Amino acid sequence: MTDPVSISFHATDIDAIAAAEGTIAVLIGEEGKLDQAARRVNRLTKGALARLVESEGWGKKKPGEGAVLDWPAGVAAERIVAIHLPRGASVTEARKAGATLAKSLGKAGTLVLAGNARRVADVALGTALMAYDFDAQRTKKADPKGEVRIMTKAPEEAEAAARPLLAAAEGVFFTRDLVNEPANVLTTEEFARRLTEMESLGLKVEVLEEADMEKLGMNALLAVGMASVMPSKVVVMQWNGGGDEAPLALVGKGVVFDTGGISLKPAAGMEDMTMDMGGAGVVSGVMRTLALRKAKANVVGLVGLVENTIAGNAQRPGDVVHSMKGDTIEVINTDAEGRLVLCDVMWYAQDRFKPAGMIDLATLTGAMIIALGHENAGVFSNDDAFCGKLLKAAEAEGEGVWRLPMGQAYDDQLKSRIADMKNVGGRPAGSITAAQFLKRFVKDETPWCHIDIAGVALKTSESATAPKGATGWGVLALDRLVKDGYEG
Ligand code: BES
Ligand code: MN
Ligand code: ZN
Repeated sequence: MTDPVSISFHATDIDAIAAAEGTIAVLIGEEGKLDQAARRVNRLTKGALARLVESEGWGKKKPGEGAVLDWPAGVAAERIVAIHLPRGASVTEARKAGATLAKSLGKAGTLVLAGNARRVADVALGTALMAYDFDAQRTKKADPKGEVRIMTKAPEEAEAAARPLLAAAEGVFFTRDLVNEPANVLTTEEFARRLTEMESLGLKVEVLEEADMEKLGMNALLAVGMASVMPSKVVVMQWNGGGDEAPLALVGKGVVFDTGGISLKPAAGMEDMTMDMGGAGVVSGVMRTLALRKAKANVVGLVGLVENTIAGNAQRPGDVVHSMKGDTIEVINTDAEGRLVLCDVMWYAQDRFKPAGMIDLATLTGAMIIALGHENAGVFSNDDAFCGKLLKAAEAEGEGVWRLPMGQAYDDQLKSRIADMKNVGGRPAGSITAAQFLKRFVKDETPWCHIDIAGVALKTSESATAPKGATGWGVLALDRLVKDGYEG
């Protein structure tokens, strides 16, 4: 797994500044006022820092933005980064400051002079999240970044606040690696292996093989994976950190590659379908986070791992499959495979765990990108209170999400001439009819949210705390939901 940069907290020692190698970062509050450590940097550099913060350009810096002085005189460091972080900065702004810092990390290490700035733990999280580079498939690796040493007024406090956040950063990295990895590397077997490895963190991990799924009647899922040489699998991860209360269930779509099947996708852009296991990736990253920070909650994560491809034995348009629930599905389009995977895993999750709530995540529909672009995931729910909590958690973590409507008229689009339902509802409201399909597999008593992350799982440009590529969207929001709603 890609390792996050190492970050530690220390008491301020202004005598360490002159000899610090690599990068020196200075967090600067209101009106460019320099604190004691910053004044030392300024004195050593013969006034360079003061000139910077008195400049016209500095006045235009938004919270979290910064400026770099390269090869400054008077210090051993190669560069000084000044970052604007007002005292009243929000969590998002503090993380932005950390992300700004991440772009200037030195391979000889980084000394951060945080003085009495608040939200240093969030600065650290922003740095960790932005300092991600997926190089597993390159032969020439970038130089590893040296340790980030943050000097702050209250190092123990900052360290305690940062510990769970850095656990979440590790969860996000786990997700991003899974999503970035190509399908010839991240096969269903390799995916299951990486999850099984998490037993060492205290998670209980089980793998259901095809024979197990046949016994359970998971025929909708099995039909999707039928043509692949990769065996289909369902991996069940349990974190039992709470009492004997019913768990929260997280369910993820794990299509390691989606060719579309016989309803083949166009060639252009098909390579992006290595990310079609993004929902399973987020579920896995959350489970890792919960284990790393020893969350006091019961959460079960289930992922359906399949490849949707073509062979003589592939399922065809017009086939009818019997889901585990018992309902029959007419497969009009083999490219609407995610819902076929999820319906069986969701049914199994409810059948076995009787969860207090269930959230599924999936790169489910291209229509989601048409509706909300790459800024917001779409959420659909049968329970306003449950959905409200999820929206609140996502908002607090700066992960965009927007609720869309559901209703009988959309469900009617799924009527089949010969079976209980079709797997597609036509072009209008494609993301909503996909959600309606899933809702047919949600028991009335289960509070449920479906999150369509097709637009946010992978991006072609960087965002506030993620370089371009896999974002890990959702790990922080779901970790926060567990923290705020399921831990005491
Ligand atoms: N994995 C795709 C959805 C997707 C598209 C995710 C683009 C990320 C980026 C999904 O399996 C799919 O193919 N959906 C179809 C559904 C249609 C056939 C009803 C789609 O969106 O075209
Ligand atoms: Mn598809
Ligand atoms: Zn798909």
